[in-house]
Amino acid sequence: MESIDKTATKAAWVYNTSGPVRDVLKLDKEFPSETSEDFKPDDILVDVVAMSINPIDYKLMQTYKMLLKLMFKFPVIPGLDFAGKIVATGPDVRGLKVGDHVWGKQAVARYRSQGGTLTTRILTDTKCVYPLPDSISFNDAAGFGVAGITAWEGLVEAMHVKPGQRVVILGGSGGVGTFAIQIAKALGVEVTSISSTTNLQLCKSLGATHTIDYKSEDVVARLGETGPYDYVFDLINDNGLYNASSKFLKPDGAFYGIAGDVSLGYMGSAISRKLRPKVLGGSSHAYHNYLLKAEPKTIKEFAEFVSENGIKTVTDSLYNFDHALAAFDRLTSHRAKGKIIVKMD
Ligand SMILES: NC(=O)c1ccc[n+]([C@@H]2O[C@H](COP(=O)([O-])OP(=O)(O)OC[C@H]3O[C@@H](n4cnc5c(N)ncnc54)[C@H](OP(=O)(O)O)[C@@H]3O)[C@@H](O)[C@H]2O)c1
Repeated sequence: MESIDKTATKAAWVYNTSGPVRDVLKLDKEFPSETSEDFKPDDILVDVVAMSINPIDYKLMQTYKMLLKLMFKFPVIPGLDFAGKIVATGPDVRGLKVGDHVWGKQAVARYRSQGGTLTTRILTDTKCVYPLPDSISFNDAAGFGVAGITAWEGLVEAMHVKPGQRVVILGGSGGVGTFAIQIAKALGVEVTSISSTTNLQLCKSLGATHTIDYKSEDVVARLGETGPYDYVFDLINDNGLYNASSKFLKPDGAFYGIAGDVSLGYMGSAISRKLRPKVLGGSSHAYHNYLLKAEPKTIKEFAEFVSENGIKTVTDSLYNFDHALAAFDRLTSHRAKGKIIVKMD
């Protein structure tokens, strides 16, 4: 491996304290870049071509400062997803070389210790990186990471869905939902997607058999007509829908939810789900929360599934690196249809 100049810098969006995105996130055009001394034998240096942002990026930025200080080395660079070109490899790297195009999801430990992917260059390792087929663009691959793998883990590893089962996806038009509909469909699962009026057609085009408009329809009544269902994939955290589950879930059906954050409001809703008895309007169905694990084996399976089944990133919008704040404005609007991509040039 050639030595990397110790004075090398890169551009990175960073924050030094918690707060609203526009107050705390700043562009540093001379952030210290990785050097040869940072390299482990299995490491790969990647010039990022595109990345995508996820709700976790602003949820962390806005959480309690004490908690952030415990979890992260400051300053923090947000972002986990990336696609780019390899510019250097450690001595133990096999099967990947300088110049290869790759996509990946940065490991959480690296996110915490050296920063995330909203930057022009990252150090990662072979377990987090997958070769990018010629048929997939950098921008599309940048959207796969957190959203795609979360959808895959939810359906395959948490629910263990089987062909012929029936799943409701609450929030089908967002980053996770657009992947979840496609993956479920490709696995032979029948999907009913709940979204607002403007996104019904999108969810149908991705493979949903039934679409329900939460703005204009009685969702519980419609689910009662189209059900019964095996699972609800809750990407929104809707206790009202959960409490009505007996009207549309099979007796052994369950909710799987992911939309948490570190706030008193969320903790209250999670406790209420667990403790509220049926006689007081609660549900007797199980509600499972899960957190993305993204084990290397899972990412590899997902990467192969994506290539074999033509799973696509639905792109809500594309921003230049310098306009990352506008990308976060779009994300925090909660109206994104699919993924928000940030490209570096
Ligand atoms: N636990 C984990 O490991 C994990 C991993 C990934 C994501 N997450 C969490 O999962 C959630 C979803 O993530 P994401 O990336 O999909 O978010 P996102 O892309 O920001 O979701 C935006 C979408 O949500 C839809 N939406 C908003 N309110 C809705 C409602 N009441 N009913 C139905 N749809 C609604 C919007 O469509 P409309 O405009 O039609 O309302 C929009 O298309 C976030 O809270 C995220 O933090 C957790």
